[in-house]
Amino acid sequence: MKDILNAPFVTEIVRTTTNMYRHGWDERNGGNISWMLDEAEAAQYVDLNAVIRTIPTGFQAPALDGIYFLVTGTGEYFKNVRYDPVKSLGLLRLTDGGRNAQLLWGFAGGGTFTSEFPSHMMSHAARLSVDPANRIVLHCHPSNLLAMTFVHDLDERAFTRTLWQMCSECVVVFPEGVNVLPWMLYGTNEIGEATAEKMKTARLVVWAQHGIYGAGRDLDETFGLIETVEKAAEIYMKIARLPRLNTITDSQLRQLADYFHVTPREGWID
Ligand code: 13P
Ligand code: ZN
Repeated sequence: MKDILNAPFVTEIVRTTTNMYRHGWDERNGGNISWMLDEAEAAQYVDLNAVIRTIPTGFQAPALDGIYFLVTGTGEYFKNVRYDPVKSLGLLRLTDGGRNAQLLWGFAGGGTFTSEFPSHMMSHAARLSVDPANRIVLHCHPSNLLAMTFVHDLDERAFTRTLWQMCSECVVVFPEGVNVLPWMLYGTNEIGEATAEKMKTARLVVWAQHGIYGAGRDLDETFGLIETVEKAAEIYMKIARLPRLNTITDSQLRQLADYFHVTPREGWID
């Protein structure tokens, strides 16, 4: 058995949580990550028959039965994951149609998966239904994006168009736009179901007055999506109260989409 502390999935998640903390996206225990692993990958580092404990999930996810996930723990501070990964992270296998999670490694202090486990697992199922290569769901609290949800119309088309207009790269990086949920009670199955529904049409779901969910095929893609949205939101918050003399026009958005061979969300460019 190889040392799990050297597993690429552990070293990369440690690097990413540290990086996210440095960006100011994850104050205190804010934010959580889940990473779907192949069984063969997990089997190199843990004994698949040695279940440490079984934790009820409080929901069902039949599409994820038997699937392995590396997940951040509830209450864990992203700034500290690198110092104690075996306490901050857990490797789990979903069983019983998703109703239970079998812990195979981690959560060494007796902890458990993130309180946002419903949103993570339901989002994985939703993304896999449209992209079988999806592996990551990532949630955090970027300041400028959060600020923007207080002062901008939350209509998804309007919100996306503003983001696209802030940097030339936006429409290329997230041509499907962002979906937006109004404020909802977090940590619940209800917000999980609502997030998953939104995940069917975009890799990014904004939680108004809370943060954002991103999904992607690897950590770099998912991190990059959120980094790009947050950059656009930062520009918006700098200029929102100033007279706008110039902008990126709809015809320029179309030029970008054509040149970089991406398909923007139908009807979101005039
Ligand atoms: P957890 O510590 O349970 O992961 O919660 C953090 C958070 O961001 C809730 O939305
Ligand atoms: Zn949160």
